Amino acid sequence: MKRVLIDSYGQPEEVARCADVADVGTPGPDEVVFDVVLFPINPADVWFCKGSYRLKPPLPATPGAECIGRVTAVGSGVSHVEAGDLVINLQRENWAQKRRVKGDDVIRVPAGLDLKQAAMLRINPPTALLMLSDIITLQAGDWVAQNVANSAVGRLVIPLAKARGLKTVNIVRREALFADLTALGADACVVDGPDLADRVKVATGGAPVRLGLDAVSGAATARLATCIADGGAVCNYGAMSGEDPVIGRSELIYRGLMVSGFMLGRFMARRTLPQIRDIYADLGRQLLDGRLSAPVEKIYAIDDIKAALKHAQQAARSGKILVAPNGMP
Ligand SMILES: NC(=O)c1ccc[n+]([C@@H]2O[C@H](COP(=O)([O-])OP(=O)(O)OC[C@H]3O[C@@H](n4cnc5c(N)ncnc54)[C@H](OP(=O)(O)O)[C@@H]3O)[C@@H](O)[C@H]2O)c1
Repeated sequence: MKRVLIDSYGQPEEVARCADVADVGTPGPDEVVFDVVLFPINPADVWFCKGSYRLKPPLPATPGAECIGRVTAVGSGVSHVEAGDLVINLQRENWAQKRRVKGDDVIRVPAGLDLKQAAMLRINPPTALLMLSDIITLQAGDWVAQNVANSAVGRLVIPLAKARGLKTVNIVRREALFADLTALGADACVVDGPDLADRVKVATGGAPVRLGLDAVSGAATARLATCIADGGAVCNYGAMSGEDPVIGRSELIYRGLMVSGFMLGRFMARRTLPQIRDIYADLGRQLLDGRLSAPVEKIYAIDDIKAALKHAQQAARSGKILVAPNGMP
């Protein structure tokens, strides 16, 4: 079977290769075996290949924080899924044709769910959901500002916020995205820049913005902070700039902003397995009925992992890059 391996940490398309490896074998009593149908290339996978992600296992290593798989065999002690079910996997190393994992690590997705959306269910939808619920208490009518609003997470934040009666001001790098984001439910859109606070003020009619979601870091964090009302919060959850977040001390000392960080695993760890399954069941339903979705730009074969990785790092994509390890589904 085929599996992506990185032999050293470095530029992803240079260090990743598609290798022939031994089959995963048959499941033990508490295990499940599935064929990987599709996996996305997320920014965290790119950081993983570069060696700048929080996890840096001994090499060779296989990336892949998420996927959608079709169960082919289950162990005698596993009863919540059966052969033929579509599942997401809560564990990593998913850039392969097949996986053998603990039964408790797979969660069945609703039948009929679009496979591309299912492949992107594990990480970005709950990230968008929990950042809106777990950082500060927000009431209907409150404004939330977010940068990388064109990212998969950003595009999920918009409808999830709207469903709660929250308003979003969406910060992007180019005006051409405004129409698309407005169609998703964005209340306001602005282009990032040195005068961001003024632009946000105009776009929101001067309404206080209570929460800022930041996945750019560096000076972008400081710009976002200037848009947040006194006593509000900035939540840093990514670093597309590759830098650490910067924030002016006056935002903290004089204006009392709270700064926090979000990592999905930390916030999921506060929940029980039944609660986690409920979150995915709810998000799966919302993807199934089209309330939530994330666009896809291209699907590659696993043999073309280098080209897929190169493509995933391009700016101004219209959606995610996915890989279909067992052929186009
Ligand atoms: N902490 C967590 O638990 C967690 C979970 C999920 C995701 N994340 C983070 O969330 C962020 C978005 O992930 P995703 O999968 O939704 O991303 P994605 O769909 O791959 O989109 C990447 C986005 O980043 C923007 N971007 C790239 N480089 C940039 C730069 N230097 N300055 C400003 N914007 C830049 C792109 O803007 P253009 O469209 O203009 O190119 C695009 O909107 C990432 O930082 C990721 O690591 C964190």
